[in-house]
Amino acid sequence: MCFFGCIRGTTVLFVASAFGAACTQAPAGQPAPAAPVAAPVQSPVERGKYLATVMDCNGCHTPFKNGEPDLTRMLSGHPEEVKVAAGPKLPAGWAISINETNTAWAGPWGISFTANLTPDMNTGIGIWTEDMFLNAIRKGKHMGVSRGILPPMPWQMQANLTDEDLKAIFAYLRTVPAISNHVPEPIPPSGEAPRVSTLAR
Ligand code: HEC
Repeated sequence: MCFFGCIRGTTVLFVASAFGAACTQAPAGQPAPAAPVAAPVQSPVERGKYLATVMDCNGCHTPFKNGEPDLTRMLSGHPEEVKVAAGPKLPAGWAISINETNTAWAGPWGISFTANLTPDMNTGIGIWTEDMFLNAIRKGKHMGVSRGILPPMPWQMQANLTDEDLKAIFAYLRTVPAISNHVPEPIPPSGEAPRVSTLAR
């Protein structure tokens, strides 16, 4: 991380270009500019929180209320009380619809429901190991091993994270409040019975 280091670098460049190369030394009698301060070291949890924020896990995994993520239900996935049976019929040329909690996504893949990423043991990822998490994101497999993870979960992009960053995200997810919320299984495109066992989740 280099927030302040970068800003300082920009300032120095600006000063140098504004006053010309001849002015790169401090004028006589004035103190030389302070040496750049090293960026503070982040713990894995802090790094994970930062990554989860900029990668917008909340945008999909936290149910929306009045158009914004409801942080009292942070990362708890599609609310179990919001029943969704089918997506709307869309006009020609349109492909995807999202429900008002921003957690049920209907598209050519059927309907997917964002997962509960809190450490709840029964309904979240409390029983997951770090390996399961890494495999889920790297291979795009539910729980790291079973059915394919559906859109719009952007695992194909997240799979490019380093092991260190994925572990940091997992470490951060262990620290958020556990919320009991049983997310439904995805609904296949034509509405037939789910092809996957419900036991896995
Ligand atoms: C654009 C929306 C979107 C974003 C952004 C998003 N997810 Fe997801 N995620 C989903 C959906 C939808 C599912 C459920 C997919 C399914 O059931 O196949 C999911 C599922 C998951 C799963 C469960 C996989 C499994 O085994 O079932 C994990 C873990 C996960 N997301 C982690 C994250 C993390 C961590 C972030 C942020 C770094 C994130 N997601 C960002 C939409 C999203």
